[in-house]
Amino acid sequence: MSRSETPDRFLEAEITPARIRFEDVSLKLEDRVVFDGLSLDVDVSRTGLVGRNGAGKSQFLRLVAGLVKPDSGNVTVNGFDPAADRKRATTEIGFVFQNPEHGLLFPTVLEELTFGLKAHGMGKREAEAQAHRILARFGVPGWPDRLVHSLSQGQKHLLCLMVALAPGPGLLLLDEAFAGLDLPTETSLHRMLSRLSVAQIAASHDLAALARNDSLIWIDAGTVRTTGTPEQILPAYRDAMEGRILPPDAL
Ligand SMILES: Nc1ncnc2c1ncn2[C@@H]1O[C@H](COP(=O)(O)OP(=O)(O)OP(=O)(O)O)[C@@H](O)[C@H]1O
Ligand SMILES: [Mg+2]
Repeated sequence: MSRSETPDRFLEAEITPARIRFEDVSLKLEDRVVFDGLSLDVDVSRTGLVGRNGAGKSQFLRLVAGLVKPDSGNVTVNGFDPAADRKRATTEIGFVFQNPEHGLLFPTVLEELTFGLKAHGMGKREAEAQAHRILARFGVPGWPDRLVHSLSQGQKHLLCLMVALAPGPGLLLLDEAFAGLDLPTETSLHRMLSRLSVAQIAASHDLAALARNDSLIWIDAGTVRTTGTPEQILPAYRDAMEGRILPPDAL
């Protein structure tokens, strides 16, 4: 990849939607059926993923990212299979985990940011220039030599977001990426995301954050219960959740 090929997703341009297609997808993990014939065909731009604990949101995102392969059926993102074409998937799809420790591997911020770029064939100098550009865009130009372990939790979340965006993906997947952050940190990360011209799917339990999306996908017990706008889905979702009283062994 050359510098000129890395798209600049920070321009306040229209989002190009990503087409997510699940065809009869089944997935079992350790004998537990997670999906059994799930089909879905949606264009996502700023899309929230909603559903109870254990509904299947994380595994859905992992299938979209190609981090897990369905036992049967097909998953495609803009027509390609992300589990089969890993190189394309890691360039075109960014993933931000709930726990930033899961996404961070290196001692310094610069190493963290350049690793993925170099793995995609970018030269050292070019990768470092791209890393500096990203740090500047996110308002932390002095970070290259910061030790990752010395960053606060919110700063680690920001670093994970920058690492996911470094290759210039067209689709960003966020799995409860900003849970547990204080209000100013969460608000500023959301503001950064809202300025990106990158299609996004964000799993969340935060109803206010979910309401900011253009569309929602409601996952329920391994099925897509419905898709629609936040106005259509959130009142029904809230009613369904508030109507449940859980026995202790159902938590
Ligand atoms: N590694 C695993 N091995 C076995 N079963 C798993 C594994 N990971 C997830 N599951 C099961 O898959 C189902 C979907 O889990 P998933 O993590 O996708 O739920 P979720 O909607 O992300 O929940 P949460 O809101 O709690 O994050 C659950 O029944 C869960 O128990
Ligand atoms: Mg989850």
